[in-house]
Amino acid sequence: MESSSDACGKDDSAGAKLQESRVLTEEEWLQKWETKNIGFHNEQGHPLADMGHQVIGVEISESALKEFFTEQKLSFSEEAIPGITGKLLKSTTGNISLYCCNIFDFTSAITGKFDAIWDRGSLVAVNPCDRERYSQLILSLMGSRCHCLLVTCLYDPSKHKGPPFYVPDSEVKHLFGKSCDITCLEKVDGLLERPKKWGLDYFWEVLYMLVLK
Ligand SMILES: C[S@@+](CC[C@H](N)C(=O)[O-])C[C@H]1O[C@@H](n2cnc3c(N)ncnc32)[C@H](O)[C@@H]1O
Repeated sequence: MESSSDACGKDDSAGAKLQESRVLTEEEWLQKWETKNIGFHNEQGHPLADMGHQVIGVEISESALKEFFTEQKLSFSEEAIPGITGKLLKSTTGNISLYCCNIFDFTSAITGKFDAIWDRGSLVAVNPCDRERYSQLILSLMGSRCHCLLVTCLYDPSKHKGPPFYVPDSEVKHLFGKSCDITCLEKVDGLLERPKKWGLDYFWEVLYMLVLK
């Protein structure tokens, strides 16, 4: 593990151009869940709700959300989301609300703004052509004292087409730097079995904290 307060490691913005036109459709993501092609999935989950927080998530795959409740042995109810296509799956304990919808249909009008945002596997999964729209959405969801933790990854983009997409430090600054103070908290060696299978010889997971200026 490495730490630094500004730039976090090797940065190749020219390399990012290699993935610029890559697009995954909604159907392709749904297919990944249907066929269990979900190497990114962490069955343990992150213990946010267990720490007393009210947790809200957004995911396009209904089966992914239902599996989550089954894995965590939580019962849930379903309701429509006023004004958009999709549904809300809510734990009966009331502290976990998972919106099954396209993230680009999600707005602060639905839930209000957030005190904290945990972006793991989201920016790196968004099609590169949609990143501006995505960062604007995240900024619009941040309350004035919100802390947003963002995980990106660095690898040789000539060796893997993504997702996860290669998001260099310069891109994080481009997307969020005007509105946010950005701190790079850590850079972790993530060269495990999966990235090795893709033919990569390095894979860094980089954790940033974003706060509104
Ligand atoms: C790399 S995975 C990360 C999932 C989860 N955040 C995690 O850390 O395991 C990206 C997820 O985004 C979902 N997804 C892709 N496009 C989406 C969209 N437009 N709206 C909402 N969810 C989407 C996929 O179904 C997939 O589960």
